Amino acid sequence: MTGGGSSANREHARVASGGSRPAASRPRVAGQLCRPVFFVGFMGAGKTSVARRLARTCGVASVDMDTYLERREGKRVKEIFAESGEDGFRDIETDVLRELAAKDPLLVSCGGGVVKRSENRAILHDAGFVVYLKVTADEAKSRISDTSTRPLFQNIESARQTAEERVPLYAEVADITIDTAGKSVAAIAREVQAALEKEGVLCLQRK
Ligand code: S3P
Repeated sequence: MTGGGSSANREHARVASGGSRPAASRPRVAGQLCRPVFFVGFMGAGKTSVARRLARTCGVASVDMDTYLERREGKRVKEIFAESGEDGFRDIETDVLRELAAKDPLLVSCGGGVVKRSENRAILHDAGFVVYLKVTADEAKSRISDTSTRPLFQNIESARQTAEERVPLYAEVADITIDTAGKSVAAIAREVQAALEKEGVLCLQRK
């Protein structure tokens, strides 16, 4: 994937919606989701960048699950891992997933490990439409500028193994799978948009 880079990271904390942007950059479409759309895939797959791009072009709201979780808890993900371990983080993650799944439908970019718990996989599958963005650990490493914020991406060997172990879990929940290798954020977003419209998950009204 190309073009997700640092401006996407700067925007990381924003919940995208039509609201506060200047008129010229507002989307000329008003989108309506009939169920939540969950983006899953390994760290660095481009979930947040693609969800945000789609939110902008289709006039729907998006939220990044980790950003939402950090605001709710008042702590960074890496602090939660340090204080409560991975299990503590996963408990909060499940709670947040339930909360987001119950809201008016949003584009939700999920943390890469959300599929680890079967309970979460059931929520993803039952409540939403799941977009799996595929990436290898090696390609992900080249996209992630700062791995220090990702407690489970500390060295490439363990990341490769984790990515490998999760492939069947992502595949189990996926309604569509998109290989992101060599594609721009815009191209991936277009592919997702086409699939969501075709499946009747996203309806667009041109203004
Ligand atoms: C994790 C991925 C991270 C974050 C946490 C754990 C994982 O999210 O939830 O560090 O287990 O793969 P991103 O996939 O957005 O980096």
